[in-house]
Amino acid sequence: MSAPRLPSGAVLARLSALPNPGALVVDIERDGARISLLVTRRGQHVAAFRNKCPHAGYPLQRSDGRIIVQDGRYMICAAHCASFALEDGACAGGPCNGTGLERLAIVVRDGEILLA
Ligand code: FES
Repeated sequence: MSAPRLPSGAVLARLSALPNPGALVVDIERDGARISLLVTRRGQHVAAFRNKCPHAGYPLQRSDGRIIVQDGRYMICAAHCASFALEDGACAGGPCNGTGLERLAIVVRDGEILLA
């Protein structure tokens, strides 16, 4: 079975709700399935990714739902500590072995972050 398509135009978050620098977990429903995404901000850079670590497929957040951000630049996977750049999801170290997060196209409009 293929993964559900992401709904274009879905609002992920308000820009003002994003920590800067930081990351939020956003879960959306599609075709009866829950899809977990990450929305990140560092300065003027806003991005979104599938919340699935390329190392072993776990979501990045800790058990309390928070994403660990190191040095204001990197998200740290809570499972085995792979690190990913906030701006583009590129692997920055750890067991991701050079594979980054899957980036999603977004638009920022009227203070909201939407899937493109
Ligand atoms: S699943 Fe993320 S580092 Fe292993």
